[in-house]
Amino acid sequence: MTAQIELKNVEKYYGAYHALKNIDLSIAKGQFVALVGPSGCGKSTLLRSLAGLETITSGAIHIAGERVNDLPPRKRDVAMVFQSYALYPHMNVMDNLTYSMRLKRKPRAEIEAAAKEVAETIGLSHLLDRFPRELSGGQRQRVAMGRAIIRNPKAFLFDEPLSNLDASLRVHMRKEVRALHNRLGATSVYVTHDQIEAMTMADHVVVMRDGIIEQQGAPLDLYAHPANQFVAGFIGSPAMNFVDARISESGEAARLNLPGEPLIPLNGSYPPGRSVIVGLRPEHLSVVGPDAGLALKVSMVESVGSASYISCSATPELSFVVEGTTRLRSGDSVHLAIDPDHVHVFDAKTRLAIGVVN
Ligand SMILES: Nc1ncnc2c1ncn2[C@@H]1O[C@H](COP(=O)(O)OP(=O)(O)OP(=O)(O)O)[C@@H](O)[C@H]1O
Ligand SMILES: [Mg+2]
Repeated sequence: MTAQIELKNVEKYYGAYHALKNIDLSIAKGQFVALVGPSGCGKSTLLRSLAGLETITSGAIHIAGERVNDLPPRKRDVAMVFQSYALYPHMNVMDNLTYSMRLKRKPRAEIEAAAKEVAETIGLSHLLDRFPRELSGGQRQRVAMGRAIIRNPKAFLFDEPLSNLDASLRVHMRKEVRALHNRLGATSVYVTHDQIEAMTMADHVVVMRDGIIEQQGAPLDLYAHPANQFVAGFIGSPAMNFVDARISESGEAARLNLPGEPLIPLNGSYPPGRSVIVGLRPEHLSVVGPDAGLALKVSMVESVGSASYISCSATPELSFVVEGTTRLRSGDSVHLAIDPDHVHVFDAKTRLAIGVVN
């Protein structure tokens, strides 16, 4: 199958600043791909390069089989939806939706039919006469999406479209955007710095840092098999714990750099004596009786009702999560069992995940 969007060895410099480094990315038709990463890692630059709003320095971008490197934005047939909505304030919803069609001088009947259909799709049929200032944030965002949909583009490009909305509306709109994508059979590239948004919405997640792709894959693959410490710490909430450690002589355990130098079992065999960083997800630590597990002291308990997040004093702090509420209080002793199936091991120098050696 040919990809709907393909980037090959894409490089982008802003003057001397190297913003995108050797980007290879292939997006199939119908796929929902999320670009995530910390602020300044190059997400918007990548999206804007797809849209034609930035010129890449080298490499190639193909959209629906056509090389678009030198095509201006309007000839690429992609629609961009921004955080700022970018609606025309002096036009009502109807005119905002149909702007691109009117620009192309489409027949009036065709414009009206398309507007009606799109307004229904985005649930704004009753608000066509309103001006942007008379709409809520969620409604404005829907108009912005409607304006993209009406163009029937080859791909939708979203740049943090929901970050102006409050938390509950954001969660609601995530589902709407994803449902809309499915209904339209669209191809979408969605930029967010929120890894939960990426994990819940996308089929394929691309984790970026400093202009490079650190790892890409299905959301749960990234969660289960992070390729390096950065991805391990970025994907998953609450974040993974990291503890300095050394692989034992047998290669089948790790001695943690914590008081008492506890030895934890590993599933499989690792290079004996290697300095490593052990990664333990908070949800994979469980409380056990006083004669087993890691002995720690509780330093803080945060309950949100459905779950409790408990921090223990260690260097660095170690946290775990339990369902519902907990009797544990700050200062209590606690013993934590570690499931060897869920221990991540990273080389202390390269920070790359170390596979089991057999
Ligand atoms: N026009 C420009 N000229 C020079 N440097 C730029 C320009 N646009 C972006 N940059 C730099 O390129 C890097 C990537 O910027 P980009 O906007 O792609 O980041 P981002 O991942 O979208 O971040 P955020 O999450 O904050 O939106 C940043 O260091 C930024 O300062
Ligand atoms: Mg950005």
